Amino acid sequence: MRLPRSVRDADVAGKVVLVRADLNVPLADGAVADDTRIRASLPTLRLLLDNGASELRVCSHLGRPNGYDERYVMAPVAARVAELVGDDRVHVLENTRFDPGETKNDEGFARELADGCDVYVNDAFGSAHRAHSSTEAVARILPAYAGLLLLAELEHLGKLLGDVERPFVLISGGAKVEDKLGVLQNLGGRADRVLIGGKMAEELRENNPLDFEVELPTDVVGASEFAEDAESRVYPYDGLPDAWLGLDIGPQTRERFAAKVGAARTIFWNGPMGVFEWPAFAAGTRAVARAVADNDGAFSIVGGADSVRALNDAGLSDKVSWVSTGGGASLELLEGNELPGVAAIPS
Ligand code: 3PG
Ligand code: MG
Repeated sequence: MRLPRSVRDADVAGKVVLVRADLNVPLADGAVADDTRIRASLPTLRLLLDNGASELRVCSHLGRPNGYDERYVMAPVAARVAELVGDDRVHVLENTRFDPGETKNDEGFARELADGCDVYVNDAFGSAHRAHSSTEAVARILPAYAGLLLLAELEHLGKLLGDVERPFVLISGGAKVEDKLGVLQNLGGRADRVLIGGKMAEELRENNPLDFEVELPTDVVGASEFAEDAESRVYPYDGLPDAWLGLDIGPQTRERFAAKVGAARTIFWNGPMGVFEWPAFAAGTRAVARAVADNDGAFSIVGGADSVRALNDAGLSDKVSWVSTGGGASLELLEGNELPGVAAIPS
């Protein structure tokens, strides 16, 4: 795999550096619910500060707002960055997705971001599969370098692209179904087993475009409505009453998935098995987290903000080989394609 040139080789002394980080963290009640991605961005910020940068303008998207949306202002994230870095040369810019140009990879918006900056560092591995103004267009305007996190992610995930020990088990779930289905289609041949839970499994039950075998849940934890305190009950996979929603994998599926994960030599897990933020629907995701963590002999990667949060909540993140800050990005990388945000940085 081609590696883009490193921020270690950038001359930043006295310069203003635009840093694209992936600070798209889960929020709860307006506060940062899991700061893994923020912490993962710190080594690059510290390196740039140590190397004498005069100012760091750190930009990121947060959530999927449609224009300005007060629920997705960067203030809570900026406060956490300030707490962790404690250097007044660091400024966190407002949510890049408040600008309609961002997701269109608009050059005008990229020029606005670049204005007054000398160097661009992309450390946003989690967003590297997006060709957006802050990840792609701007890299054609300023001299561009890869941050330490971006490079480390490419090095670790790159191992899954080479000869892996088998069985290679891929577990996928989560809510961003449209994003992931196409990617899964292209990954089918790489993994020996593909286990699917969460909303993705619901979708595949209705309409399965995949041309390889996947293992779907055989039972689900049903909810009478989409609410944390909804009435809940375990149903066979195809026995869920019409108005009910499947919000987690059931106990039988948990056990089956855990056994498959336990027998793996290589594991990649992306996306929760249900609405794990609600205790009544967290058991499936927790069971997968535990099974991945318990398999000491396997090379294991867990990716995606929600899976990582579940792993952290269970205190298991130091029990896996690599915690990836990328969800969709890591899946797309596994397809074997160069990601747009990486392709834009010279070697
Ligand atoms: C992620 O959380 O997957 C990344 O931050 C990218 O977010 P997006 O899927 O909204 O582009
Ligand atoms: Mg994503």
